[in-house]
Amino acid sequence: MDIHADKILIMDFGSQTTQLIARRVREAQVYCEIHPFNMELEKIRDFGAKGIILSGGPACVLDEGAPSIDPEILDLGLPVLGICYGMQLMTHLLGGEVEKAAKREYGKAQLSIDSFQDLFHGLDGVKEGRGEQVWMSHGDKIKVPPPGFTGIAHSGNSPVAAMRHATAELYGVQFHPEVAHTPNGTEMLKNFLFRACGCKPTWTMKSFVASTVESLRQAVGSKNVVCALSGGVDSSVVAVLLHKAVGHQSTCIFVNNGLLRQGEAEEVQEIFRDTFEINLDYIDASDAFLSRLKGVVDPEQKRKIIGNLFIEIFEAEAKQIPGAEFLAQGTLYPDVIESVSFKGPSATIKTHHNVGGLPEVMNLRLIEPLRELFKDEVRKVGGELGLPHRLIQRHPFPGPGLAIRILGEVTVERLKILRQADTIVMEEMEASGLHDQVWQAFGVLLPVRTVGVMGDERTYDQVISIRIVESLDAMTADWARMPYEVLGQMSNRIINEVKGVNRVVYDISSKPPSTIEWE
Ligand code: XMP
Repeated sequence: MDIHADKILIMDFGSQTTQLIARRVREAQVYCEIHPFNMELEKIRDFGAKGIILSGGPACVLDEGAPSIDPEILDLGLPVLGICYGMQLMTHLLGGEVEKAAKREYGKAQLSIDSFQDLFHGLDGVKEGRGEQVWMSHGDKIKVPPPGFTGIAHSGNSPVAAMRHATAELYGVQFHPEVAHTPNGTEMLKNFLFRACGCKPTWTMKSFVASTVESLRQAVGSKNVVCALSGGVDSSVVAVLLHKAVGHQSTCIFVNNGLLRQGEAEEVQEIFRDTFEINLDYIDASDAFLSRLKGVVDPEQKRKIIGNLFIEIFEAEAKQIPGAEFLAQGTLYPDVIESVSFKGPSATIKTHHNVGGLPEVMNLRLIEPLRELFKDEVRKVGGELGLPHRLIQRHPFPGPGLAIRILGEVTVERLKILRQADTIVMEEMEASGLHDQVWQAFGVLLPVRTVGVMGDERTYDQVISIRIVESLDAMTADWARMPYEVLGQMSNRIINEVKGVNRVVYDISSKPPSTIEWE
């Protein structure tokens, strides 16, 4: 089965929710890709989509130089759905009238549906005048739909909140069906995908595994592959996929840099070597990393030292593997989307995150089996492959490990303190049932000492900061409003159980302007 046969092209005009559109389409089991709005007509034809979605965006179609498309795209005979800016652009290009708004409409709105067909098929349960909740975020609006179009829904502020062409499969919606605040948005998108475009729901993670194993087999042939295993969900999924495809032609290299969380190195060996019987090359380089980090307090210097030493060790190890021609990496779709989306300052901050440069240094060909996937899809693939739930749901963990969560010098003693505190944070996250609800939770060891009292004794000990954040993609994040009892329990346990800590604080900063990690 060709899992890419029925696919959707999403043309990006820079909306912050463009990736969400793609995720909703994928959840409906239809493959889709995001491309910049200025993709050439020829390329669009070659892409072979069953339908096109024009995203929202921050611009105004009436302004000079506003992002636009070749109007011929609307004439290809393909179904097109314009969302917000996408709808305004369709209107503008097809001879309707867009009105510049005096003020933005932002937030929840009640939509009155005028036609329960097509996009709104099956939504007539709410007919009784209650309206349909949708999320609006727009300045301009449609004053007159283009010739041939009629309004199919309205709201208090938007007389044409949705429209369609009488005969062609061209649709526009002023609101955002892709966000959670439009509860029936997924149904509307599904109506577009299945009714208008005639897509079949073939994009499942089960079919992804089958087709990827097959293509990996062909790509690798009789050669050998090296896989950098970190124990995180992405590289773990790559390791198991490769093993499934080419068995012992693939070798995983796992470098213990001495900066891992409690029990992590043992767990990785148990899962991959013992359970999955994968070729695992385990290297304990803790001493080498710690001795190079001696006396280093500058965060960037820590990162550089760790990154460089990792490459050094990895390269030396990979050279020992005969016939290795490929290097497998867990690159994900959000890293490769060529879009105009607003990414924020972390887009550049993140460049040093992944161990870049490995393939060039080593003269290996790169294999990236997860290039098409979003993180939630990778987790589903992990489930299909039988990886343990704990590993699949693991929070992201930075390459430089605990070194960037120990402010100041990294020493064996301070690593021990942070490991113990971090373990308590994780245990309490799981006990509270909130572990899978947040993006990340961890402890940070601060470079200060404070006074306390323990029994009759005065103490002068270290401070742990707890960091728990909610996020969709780590580009922005907010501190989690955790129940006081859970925070209280973490604090009590850390102060009582971790020798050397007499104070716990909770980090209530969002990103931006702070970052998720402290260094
Ligand atoms: P910041 O601190 O930049 O982190 O807000 C954003 C996300 O990236 C993770 N992170 C890293 N991941 N190598 C990684 O693989 C790194 O060097 C690194 N530094 C930060 C961080 O945990 C958060 O999820």
